[in-house]
Amino acid sequence: MSSSSKLYQSASKAARSLLSAVSQAQRSSSSSVLTAEGRNAALATLTNLGRKTLPTVYSYHKAGGSHRHAHGWGWLAAVPAAVYMLQDQEAHAAEMERTFIAIKPDGVQRGLISEIVSRFERKGYKLVAIKLIVPSKEFAQKHYHDLKDRPFFNGLCDFLSSGPVLAMVWEGEGVIKYGRKLIGATDPQKSEPGTIRGDLAVVVGRNIIHGSDGPETAKDEIALWFEPKELVSYTSNTEKWIYGVN
Ligand code: RTP
Ligand code: MG
Repeated sequence: MSSSSKLYQSASKAARSLLSAVSQAQRSSSSSVLTAEGRNAALATLTNLGRKTLPTVYSYHKAGGSHRHAHGWGWLAAVPAAVYMLQDQEAHAAEMERTFIAIKPDGVQRGLISEIVSRFERKGYKLVAIKLIVPSKEFAQKHYHDLKDRPFFNGLCDFLSSGPVLAMVWEGEGVIKYGRKLIGATDPQKSEPGTIRGDLAVVVGRNIIHGSDGPETAKDEIALWFEPKELVSYTSNTEKWIYGVN
């Protein structure tokens, strides 16, 4: 990763912490202002960032970080304009990449839901939507429309609509591409050990899981399987331990 992109990520994270702390304070009717946790995390990030790349942040924080400022709104002035102005970019960056993942009827029937969900969870991805449904054959045909000329299309759609499917949306940096790595090659005979299909499936017609194969398909498949209100945006407590640069 380039150093400018690292810098952007650090600054972005710092700005996000700050903005979330500020909006939290604004939502609160009490005058407790910023939560100590949000403020300290933001300042720690900014201070770290400043030590390496933005000296003005560090020196101002050191010089201006009086006791009074640390507990009131005054400390906000310590945020350099360059970082604070990231909020527009941040609003965009906050839309973290999402992918559509489905456990097919064979995976559900074999009791592999928790095994598969835990692999995505343990990696550090965030679950933002989940539901168990039996899709109609027409729905399955829509989902696999790009394979409509393949000889196995009819059987594939019959199978997908034959029982419960666990439909999910997972979020995280690079989740579309890396989600496919976790899943493994289409044919389990060729999937590497350690992948979901490599470890848990044997033949291509029963390869237990689907994952979007690119940004466009991810967008289309999420829109096909979920209504916007079913997607839950939230901050995970673990994010600060999963993302970061040194
Ligand atoms: P998926 O869409 O399910 O994540 O799988 P994929 O991208 O790895 O593979 P794709 O080419 O999109 O194929 C979709 C599903 O069709 C079934 N298939 N059967 N020769 C066969 O019998 C055959 N080839 C593919 C598999 O279930 C595959 O996941
Ligand atoms: Mg596919």
